[in-house]
Amino acid sequence: MDATESTAHRIAVPTPTAALEAIDIYKSLPLGRERIDILKGITLRINHGEFVAVIGPSGSGKSTLLGIIAGLDNPTTGKVLIDGIDITKMGEGQLAKVRNAKIGMVYQAFNLIPTLTAQENVEAPLYVGKHTGRPADRAREILELVGLGHRLRNRPNQLSGGEQQRVAVARALATDPAIVIMDEPTGNLDQKNSENVLDMVRDLRDRTGKTFIIATHDPNVAAAADREVRIVDGLVANA
Ligand SMILES: Nc1ncnc2c1ncn2[C@@H]1O[C@H](COP(=O)(O)OP(=O)(O)O)[C@@H](O)[C@H]1O
Ligand SMILES: [Mg+2]
Repeated sequence: MDATESTAHRIAVPTPTAALEAIDIYKSLPLGRERIDILKGITLRINHGEFVAVIGPSGSGKSTLLGIIAGLDNPTTGKVLIDGIDITKMGEGQLAKVRNAKIGMVYQAFNLIPTLTAQENVEAPLYVGKHTGRPADRAREILELVGLGHRLRNRPNQLSGGEQQRVAVARALATDPAIVIMDEPTGNLDQKNSENVLDMVRDLRDRTGKTFIIATHDPNVAAAADREVRIVDGLVANA
């Protein structure tokens, strides 16, 4: 490729837009008479369609950071912009709407409702807020997307760990959020199931163009992502 072609190529590619920006995030909490500083000025930008691993040792502040960027927790200072809008200044009602519309969460322990079937677990978030289509149809469609079209009526205890985590990912996708945030999603899975879930995430990213953010302490998990943001002692170490 010569220089002219290279320039033309750059012009043709639209500038990526930020799905999420964290700006100078601090978090401190009281501990007895002192305060402990958990996050000490974290700034990061994640574009639409990126699959980013937030990697760092246990206790480095990953879960705290994810809770803040998901709008579940407040920073002590700093801003979180979702599609350019600061969520740290929002009231609870408005914030709940933004979370329901734009953010899906997945946890290490799956957190499925044990008495509901796979399909009912995926339908559950669709009864909150406004969504197009019938919840049952939407749930079936997404369970098919994650490869579980044949497990609709199984309850969590009738599914393997890997399958349960797929249901949890389907539930996170149900409301069609732009961003899916996953906190140690493979922490309770063996190697084979971890790889399956990570392959699925890459495939979903390619097919849906959504943004996936995974916190992990495992370098093998982080290697599946496009990019790593390394957190050490409450700070980004690879800015
Ligand atoms: N509610 C809390 N009260 C006091 N300390 C906390 C609280 N939540 C987290 N911490 C401390 O903050 C640090 C970061 O925790 P966390 O965000 O869970 O890290 P990670 O997810 O990377 O393991 C740890 O030292 C933890 O003990
Ligand atoms: Mg954690």
